[in-house]
Amino acid sequence: MFIDTHAHLTYPTLNVQLSEVIERAEEAGVTRIINVATDLESAEMVLDSANKFDGVFAALGIHPQDSANLPSDWPDRLRELLSKPKVVALGEIGLDYYREFSPKATQIEVFRRQILIARELKLPMILHDRQAHEDLKQILTEIGYHKGVLHCFSGNAVFAREMTDLGFYISFTGNATYGNRKTEQAAQAVPLEKLMLETDAPFLAPEGKRGETNEPAYIPLIAAKIAELKGLPIETVATVTTQNAINFFNLP
Ligand code: NI
Repeated sequence: MFIDTHAHLTYPTLNVQLSEVIERAEEAGVTRIINVATDLESAEMVLDSANKFDGVFAALGIHPQDSANLPSDWPDRLRELLSKPKVVALGEIGLDYYREFSPKATQIEVFRRQILIARELKLPMILHDRQAHEDLKQILTEIGYHKGVLHCFSGNAVFAREMTDLGFYISFTGNATYGNRKTEQAAQAVPLEKLMLETDAPFLAPEGKRGETNEPAYIPLIAAKIAELKGLPIETVATVTTQNAINFFNLP
């Protein structure tokens, strides 16, 4: 049994065939999916999908790339949405210095504000970090709220250990299957007790499915690669990462 801890089922390629996507996931042993919003509009769609499907849970937050031009009452609207049933995390939130669709200063302000909301509501955070490792770590340690997962981890092994030592979890997508040595070494450095699996569907399809629309049913391909990198049976990776996700997101 697996859990896809990060998918964007709101994207049209997945949303138009949602029942089939969830059915294929279940056939592949992926029984629960965290559907992740990136702004207030997609948050409503994520809540709809969580209401409709037992195995779908909601993560709601403002993505760094969507941080510009927010309505002034966004923190109150977000708090209201986060109070709905089946919300299990605040996310995805963070910093993206790779593509500065929103100015750095705005990203930082919106990120800080959301960390404070997560702390206030005692919710775990799904963290997006693209070429912003130092700022992200500095802001999180300064505020001192460490209940988060660094999703689609792109740092090196040293950064992975630093963050897991601080209490953070780390999750890998198909990015772990592309033969990138830095990512493989990071996956090897992360204790299995701190590791979770995700697709980030519809993006980043794993090797063997590259170029296709990614979907939660492909989680076992990522698990197989993690198992190979760590020299463990895939069953162990499945069991431990599933338990990690249940604990981290407080899933039923
Ligand atoms: Ni994502």
